Amino acid sequence: MVGELAAKVALVTGGGSGIGRATALAFARAGARVVVADVLAEGGEETVRTIQGAGGEALFVRCDVTVAAEVEALVARAVATYGRLECAFNNAGIGGGLGATAECTEENFDRVLAVNLKGVFLCMREEIRQMLTQGGGAIVNTASAAGLVGAQGIPAYAASKHGVVGLTKTAAVEYARKRIRVNAVCPGWIQTPMLGQVGADNPKFETGIVRFHPIGRLGTPEEVAAAVVWLCSDAASFVTGLNMSVDGGLVAQ
Ligand SMILES: NC(=O)c1ccc[n+]([C@@H]2O[C@H](COP(=O)([O-])OP(=O)(O)OC[C@H]3O[C@@H](n4cnc5c(N)ncnc54)[C@H](O)[C@@H]3O)[C@@H](O)[C@H]2O)c1
Repeated sequence: MVGELAAKVALVTGGGSGIGRATALAFARAGARVVVADVLAEGGEETVRTIQGAGGEALFVRCDVTVAAEVEALVARAVATYGRLECAFNNAGIGGGLGATAECTEENFDRVLAVNLKGVFLCMREEIRQMLTQGGGAIVNTASAAGLVGAQGIPAYAASKHGVVGLTKTAAVEYARKRIRVNAVCPGWIQTPMLGQVGADNPKFETGIVRFHPIGRLGTPEEVAAAVVWLCSDAASFVTGLNMSVDGGLVAQ
């Protein structure tokens, strides 16, 4: 396959739905062999079938990103299958419950932090270990507009995504000399099944959140995927430690 990621190996967590699926498909269109990881097999396998149906190469690995041993096995499987790991998109995440800080339960806080922040840490740790052995690579993490500014009603989510921004900048400066670039995307509200989790698929709520975006609409998973592919490509060879807003102008206000 030809393309900006031709013959590279790319890993996507949360690849069974939404932004992760769109990015897995975009990686494959760019020529990469794609390892699709998700805690839910059905969606991940569907993503793999779609890639294969279009003539691409992909593998599904079931993985819960909150479990270190499963993340280790995931990266080991990717390398055992394809030999290397050039690109990694740490994207698995959950919205968690809605409610201001005084209403946020400890269980909700712990679960959201485990998936969205610890999960990204565990994945990055394994990916970096592999990339050090092969002399470089590119990692992109999914943060959020809620990783850059406060977000009423989702304190645990906002804390987790601010944490992802911190992990991203730190690893970027730690490994820049080792030819490993580490960036994040910070999406605004994107049309994915996650909107349903926080009640935002209700038409009234949706009209409300559209107003947050100067561009006047929600984003699509494909618009985030395009940014991720660019950040992983050689076109972004001098870009590291960036937390790139893909948000229709939301945090520019
Ligand atoms: N949709 C938005 O508006 C929006 C905005 C900003 C950031 N994000 C972030 O984008 C990322 C993708 O979200 P999405 O909107 O595509 O949601 P989604 O619900 O469509 O997809 C998330 C995927 O992650 C998987 N997942 C959940 N927990 C997991 C775990 N423990 N281990 C492995 N996989 C797990 C799910 O099974 C699902 O396939 C998340 O990190 C989310 O926080 C989304």
